[in-house]
Amino acid sequence: MEQVDRDQAVKSQFISTSDGELTIVGPVKAEVIAQLAMDDGLRAFRPPKRQKEALEEICKLPDGRVILAHVASRIMGYVTFHPPDSFERWSRGPREVLELGAIEVSPRVRQYGVGRRLLEVAFSDPIMENYLVIATEYYWHWDMEKTGLRVWEYRELMRRIMSPVGMVVKDTDEEEILAHPANMLMARYGKNLPKSSILQFESILYTKPDSSRG
Ligand SMILES: CC(C)(COP(=O)(O)OP(=O)(O)OC[C@H]1O[C@@H](n2cnc3c(N)ncnc32)[C@H](O)[C@@H]1OP(=O)(O)O)[C@@H](O)C(=O)NCCC(=O)NCCS
Repeated sequence: MEQVDRDQAVKSQFISTSDGELTIVGPVKAEVIAQLAMDDGLRAFRPPKRQKEALEEICKLPDGRVILAHVASRIMGYVTFHPPDSFERWSRGPREVLELGAIEVSPRVRQYGVGRRLLEVAFSDPIMENYLVIATEYYWHWDMEKTGLRVWEYRELMRRIMSPVGMVVKDTDEEEILAHPANMLMARYGKNLPKSSILQFESILYTKPDSSRG
């Protein structure tokens, strides 16, 4: 899409796939997403139509960011960033906390490096150094059926995709993370973060006054 490339690109990447040349670009505006169609395979979190609406909503949030992978006018993948929901523990952290909400690539173009490149483009923007980015990885969101991976293999896949952009696993006593041993919290401290913000975040990793931490 010419308009995607001309108006919104921070940095673009191109990948040849069996579906055609795929472009990764962003952050994009909601109006750009509105012009595109969602690939039918993008249903890991909700049906494609509803997920497209969710992407547009995220673009409109303060600090909301969506990076897209598209082939011509069809969205084939995305990664989203948004402030943590108010009911989440992470909303009590420093104002710089930004949640990597979801990453999804259509099964039609998986294992071409699209997931990895979506993250590369997202974190190539210098503004990301101002944020403390977290990702809550819950196994119930993982597409074990289509990838054919088992739960621990999938956890390792997520860790491998996230680590090149500086996301590391953090220990926490947050209830949903503790709900299954494969769940994990990952975080990345931007280079421009003040020390006080890092300390504030680390103070909410554990909230229970017991000695269960490793
Ligand atoms: C997770 C997901 C985004 C990966 O996207 P992708 O474009 O296929 O990933 P990439 O091609 O960039 O692969 C990255 C690495 O994972 C490996 N990998 C990806 N899928 C794999 C599979 N099914 N089996 C084995 N390895 C796999 C790749 O070989 C690559 O390995 P490398 O480190 O040796 O280079 C995609 O599978 C997906 O959308 N899953 C459903 C949604 C989801 O689970 N999101 C995560 C929770 S928010």
